[in-house]
Amino acid sequence: MNSCQANPGKILIVDDEKSMREFLEIMLLKDGYQVHTADSGQSALEAIQRDSFDMLITDIRMKPVNGLDVLKQCKAVSPGTVVIIISAYASTETAVAAMKEGAYDYLPKPFKVDEIRSVIEGAFRNRGAEKVTNPQEGPFYFGCLIGESPAMRKVYELIQRVAATNSNVLITGESGTGKELVAKAIHRQSPRNGEPFVVVNCAGVPESLIESELFGYKKGAFTGASTTRKGMVETAQGGTLFLDEIGELSMALQVKILRLVQEKTIRMIGGTEDISVDVRIISATNRDLEEMVIENKFREDLYYRLNVLPIRIPPLRERPMDIQILAQHFLSRFSREFGKDIHKLSSYAMDILKNYDFPGNVRELEHIIERGVALESSSIILPDSLTLSTYKRSRNDPPPCTAMNLPPEGIDLDRYLMEIERKMLHQALQATRGIKHKAAGLLGITFRSFRYRLIKYGMESGEE
Ligand SMILES: Nc1ncnc2c1ncn2[C@@H]1O[C@H](COP(=O)(O)OP(=O)(O)OP(=O)(O)O)[C@@H](O)[C@H]1O
Ligand SMILES: [Mg+2]
Repeated sequence: MNSCQANPGKILIVDDEKSMREFLEIMLLKDGYQVHTADSGQSALEAIQRDSFDMLITDIRMKPVNGLDVLKQCKAVSPGTVVIIISAYASTETAVAAMKEGAYDYLPKPFKVDEIRSVIEGAFRNRGAEKVTNPQEGPFYFGCLIGESPAMRKVYELIQRVAATNSNVLITGESGTGKELVAKAIHRQSPRNGEPFVVVNCAGVPESLIESELFGYKKGAFTGASTTRKGMVETAQGGTLFLDEIGELSMALQVKILRLVQEKTIRMIGGTEDISVDVRIISATNRDLEEMVIENKFREDLYYRLNVLPIRIPPLRERPMDIQILAQHFLSRFSREFGKDIHKLSSYAMDILKNYDFPGNVRELEHIIERGVALESSSIILPDSLTLSTYKRSRNDPPPCTAMNLPPEGIDLDRYLMEIERKMLHQALQATRGIKHKAAGLLGITFRSFRYRLIKYGMESGEE
């Protein structure tokens, strides 16, 4: 389990000095936290592997494993855990080293009860948001988001800024870039944290159902409506409504969403009165809405209403410096989940990843590492365990087809090319679970061209 799902308030205290452990334990238990203790760096490492903590308070000078080692390991396994360093041998150097490794604060011993208490309370209040105000020195994560590239730091800053407001946010980015994570982070950082965060997947629900899903219905509104049922918008009352894949909404539903956005009221299907709702709207799309507005596929007025605060998440290939840190994070996670002892990627395997295009972005990297951990039998991930998709290899590799040799008897080129085309269409559909516009994106062709080709090969399912 990663730290994002842990109960708030679970603290691990690490100190080889018994009196300090007991002092902190008694104080923190009294304050209502769940407390665990470790009497050495080593047992702290074991605890971190076994369990997840919201906070780690650790001494620095311990042998053989010191507090900095514990800090580093903790950040590798669970970047969201807040780490506070306490030490009787406070030196600026160690303090700086600890901060660089992502520690939240550094307290010299002895300290007063009130001092440590205010640091802990402050840390929980600012959890996930700390230190990102300085983009040069901030840590490499923000809540559940990981990445240290300037592009991601900018995203963290934007999240912090928009979280404080009530305005609508439009998150754009290719598939798998983390749009949903960003939406959640905004909600968590906002005053609405604690109220519901409701996700509506505008592409996942059939057109005929989405209206009742969103707005609910009155008893008897249609056949089968045996009771009155609240919709998702009302469920989000007081909280945040996340409209995912907003570009997939039909024109008819766009009108209804516009009304919700403009007037903050809804009407249930079969209802006669308007219900006012207090929801903050965050939407996301991997499509070019501006383009869709020009093509008259998306309402201009709705676009401007939703896009008050835009956040663009760049694709992973535009921020290659995040690849290593993300790979390492997923490696620790899957290694723990699968009960394996794999903590490293070989440098060649890492090079391969760093040169890969990641058409499926962070989600694809996550799956590559998951498969790698599952397949690897040694303690290091070797290149052979990395299965990169065949439709787009490393930027430096020649495309797979150019490696083909012409057999002496010759080939039927047209048939051969058609076969490749058909296979690529099929693989793209598989990779995107049948979402055609994403599949088209993977192949670098327009949706129209993609559909034309599906029809040509009799692969069109006719569901649209
Ligand atoms: N910066 C990040 N740090 C850690 N994990 C990430 C990051 N970005 C994405 N992920 C992970 O990648 C996966 C995809 O993220 P998410 O669902 O938020 O992407 P998305 O942009 O909404 O994709 P889609 O357009 O396909 O819906 C998730 O498992 C998520 O946890
Ligand atoms: Mg998504």
